[in-house]
Amino acid sequence: MQEHGYWGLRLFSRKQILVTGGAGFLGSHLCERLLADGHDVLCVDNFFTGTRDNILSLLDNKRFEFMRHDVTFPLYVEVDEIYNLACPASPNHYQHDPVQTTKTSVHGAINMLGLAKRLGARIFQASTSEVYGDPTVHPQTEDYRGHVNPIGPRACYDEGKRCAETLFFDYRRQHNLNIRVARIFNTYGPRMHIDDGRVVSNFIVQALRGEPITIYGDGSQTRAFCYVDDLIEGFVRLMNTSDDVTGPVNLGNPVEISIRQLATKIIELTGSRSPLLSKPLPSDDPLQRCPDISMAKRLLDWEPTIALEQGLQRCIAYFDQVLRASA
Ligand SMILES: NC(=O)c1ccc[n+]([C@@H]2O[C@H](COP(=O)([O-])OP(=O)(O)OC[C@H]3O[C@@H](n4cnc5c(N)ncnc54)[C@H](O)[C@@H]3O)[C@@H](O)[C@H]2O)c1
Repeated sequence: MQEHGYWGLRLFSRKQILVTGGAGFLGSHLCERLLADGHDVLCVDNFFTGTRDNILSLLDNKRFEFMRHDVTFPLYVEVDEIYNLACPASPNHYQHDPVQTTKTSVHGAINMLGLAKRLGARIFQASTSEVYGDPTVHPQTEDYRGHVNPIGPRACYDEGKRCAETLFFDYRRQHNLNIRVARIFNTYGPRMHIDDGRVVSNFIVQALRGEPITIYGDGSQTRAFCYVDDLIEGFVRLMNTSDDVTGPVNLGNPVEISIRQLATKIIELTGSRSPLLSKPLPSDDPLQRCPDISMAKRLLDWEPTIALEQGLQRCIAYFDQVLRASA
């Protein structure tokens, strides 16, 4: 299935790559990157949160194929590698149908791992910093086992993703599968959903519309934001590194900022006159979240390169265009 040839100066191996959740925010950027690297991409998505618009520019590419499919059902295709991203990622979306969220993480992982086992394919799991829950150590290293409430409203996502990690490592131990697990921290960029309640998109859209910027709690809680291009570079490096590297590996930007500072920065960059509006903190909302990325630096020679202000400017330009188009 793989084709080999010289591409530039290095030996290039053209692969057939399956991306589940490929019509979503991260998935569409990953499909774009893999196509640009010369691979064939099979994008599978049920359009729960993903959209045709996200992959519109790829549909004419002969090396890109889209298949509408729900990963909670088995999938029989022939590929060399699998990136498993299918799962709603924002609290608004994953809490909308929590049972389906757990099914997507757990049944989706079982189905994709079964496929990888049958094909002998390498498989990547998009895990999350949410496996650390409301952390009691800071910043979080990969050996921290987490502080998750198993019965709270976020559990469908947090525990679903934890169980998916368990399945990946059991397939590794039991079937010697070649796995890669990335624990992704907050990522932002163009094609985030306009109404998914995540803080960067929320603040930018509110600022552009001149609406009050809603801050939950007193705004002193901190987050660290990674720009999408940096994250995708981390995905590709992790997938392509040596066979003995399985992860989990934290991928994210370790530069912390308080939610209030983020709001102020977005107001400044958009030139908005939006006031700040405080609302009560939702239950189980972590107070601090910041990756320790020493492992990614050591194993992948990876770290984010795009500064927050630069990334926010690109994101603001994207949302500005979306809002104008829908006006
Ligand atoms: N964006 C982040 O900051 C972040 C952080 C941590 C982890 N992640 C993980 O990365 C992955 C992608 O996140 P995203 O931000 O792009 O979210 P997203 O909601 O934009 O993308 C998820 C995609 O999965 C698809 N999907 C959902 N359920 C499916 C199913 N049952 N079958 C097939 N497709 C399905 C959706 O339609 C969507 O296209 C998710 O697994 C998420 O948990 C993202």
